[in-house]
Amino acid sequence: MQQTTRRIRGVVAGVVACGAVAAVALIAACGGGRDAEMGAPPPSGRYDIGRAATAAEIAVMDIDVGPDGVELPAGQGTVSQGAKLFGAQCASCHGVQGEGMPPAYPKLVGREPREGFPFGRDPKLEKTIGNYWPYATTLFDYVRRAMPLFTPGSLSDDEVYALTAYLLAQNEVIKADATLDAESLKAVRMPARDRFVPDDRKGGAAVR
Ligand code: HEC
Repeated sequence: MQQTTRRIRGVVAGVVACGAVAAVALIAACGGGRDAEMGAPPPSGRYDIGRAATAAEIAVMDIDVGPDGVELPAGQGTVSQGAKLFGAQCASCHGVQGEGMPPAYPKLVGREPREGFPFGRDPKLEKTIGNYWPYATTLFDYVRRAMPLFTPGSLSDDEVYALTAYLLAQNEVIKADATLDAESLKAVRMPARDRFVPDDRKGGAAVR
């Protein structure tokens, strides 16, 4: 009971303190808390904390490779080099043949179903690199930035080329004696390529 009273008195004191200032200031000081919580910048437009990132710091993170592969780095790797790396660094989660370990670790190899594209009708069908991914360059991008799960960023560009080559060969997309580099990876055409169209909507259209 005593506690409740104290709490109520606190609220009353707050209202009195706020009520004493002009109406505009009242909104800013008492009702304006929401904006501050939402991260609205101060009137100066600057928070005056931290510093601008250096070009070197941005370069370390600026590793995205788009569908056309223009950002692909120098380097190369073969299917057989990738097979060794996969066995040592990936198979523990994705299975020796890339068959996956349900429910957590996705299957990476598989071309079925080869006819049609029935994924929307049958959610049980497993999407893989071979039956679903539209761009081979995405595989390089994803493995380089996100795998192995607990040590992303630890693979060299040559190793990522080799793993990409191995996974594409296992999915029957390239030959088992292939070597991949920027130019040959850009030229790879995925089986599901024509099942997707680029989203070329501009401005707000994409969030509709
Ligand atoms: C510790 C377990 C683990 C290891 C080791 C691991 N992965 Fe993964 N991998 C995962 C998990 C979990 C996902 C799903 C992540 C998600 O959906 O956010 C994944 C997703 C992927 C995908 C995307 C699959 C898809 O269709 O969405 C690829 C490709 C892949 N891993 C490749 C590799 C390669 C290559 C290696 C070895 C260099 C590797 N992974 C090592 C756990 C692992």
